[in-house]
Amino acid sequence: MKQDCILITGANGEIGHSLITKIYEQGNGNIVALDLSPLDSCLAECCCEFIQCNILDEAHLVEIFQDYHFTSIFHLASILSTRAEMNPLQAQKVNVQGTAILLELAAQQTLQMQYETKFIYPSSIAVYGFPTPEAKQQAGKVREDQALSPVTMYGINKLACENLGAYYGAHYRLLNEGKQAHHIDFRAIRFPGLISAITVPTGGTSDYGPEMLHHAAQGLPYNCFVRPDTRLPFMVMPDAVKSLLTLESAPRESLSQLIYNVTSFNPSAEQLAEITINAFPSANIHYSIHPARQIIVDSWPGDIDDSAARRDWGWTPDFDLEQAFQQYLIPQIHNRYHQGVTTVKVQE
Ligand code: SER
Repeated sequence: MKQDCILITGANGEIGHSLITKIYEQGNGNIVALDLSPLDSCLAECCCEFIQCNILDEAHLVEIFQDYHFTSIFHLASILSTRAEMNPLQAQKVNVQGTAILLELAAQQTLQMQYETKFIYPSSIAVYGFPTPEAKQQAGKVREDQALSPVTMYGINKLACENLGAYYGAHYRLLNEGKQAHHIDFRAIRFPGLISAITVPTGGTSDYGPEMLHHAAQGLPYNCFVRPDTRLPFMVMPDAVKSLLTLESAPRESLSQLIYNVTSFNPSAEQLAEITINAFPSANIHYSIHPARQIIVDSWPGDIDDSAARRDWGWTPDFDLEQAFQQYLIPQIHNRYHQGVTTVKVQE
């Protein structure tokens, strides 16, 4: 009899850190964590097994699925948007091929076990694409079905994986009569930029938000790589984890779609800098625009409409802009650096 477990790929990443910790705190230690590099020591006690594995190593993944029955899969492993532009082909392999392999294994497991494996997929605002900053401004809050013309490899990959997930969730092996009784239960969230108090991302393009804050807290100068008027939606990591776990536990019949926007606040870079300087008055923030990264954020929406998530599964963030900084980010970041705790700089 195989052990029932939760599989989390990209365990060492930003979301992985917080999601694993939260699931463990909720009393579920049956986590199989997977990552390309050795597991961060702070996560070891939360997982029943860690497997160092490349998401493209299909043979190894097949073996892992022979040992466990995964009730839910959180597939977090991905190459983020800035890094993906540096090696688009590699990003496409990891982001799309890696996801396709995992979806296929989840679908086969679902057929064998007659149990609809939940496949929870973090998508992104990068699936949206506006040709100009004016078009972005005019669009306002973007719904899930609008402006799906991504300009980045990462956004293209995320949109492709949403479609793959929809295929595996409803049409897998269309020609195999009688085999379609059970499909995987695919659910995706389109995340805005995420800000965590305990980790700093690498390789993303919304990274100016968390970088600015973490630099200021450590007394380091920061050169923001986007214009002061740049606006993106953001949320803090505890809300990101809350959204993943709430969507995972939502009854299937309450879900009217497979893919949901979630968001909380959408400050300009200048507003983020002001809040940061208020919290850390010695902060030294300047602007040094990176033209290509500016094009990326100009193509992403300034706000997204998450009313479907609110309606279908009761989504609501715990932290608005004020609460995010005053109750979560500033106190926790302040404590960490003053206690000499180093923030984990995560690799995707
Ligand atoms: N935070 C991601 C990035 O910047 C977008 O979802 O790549």
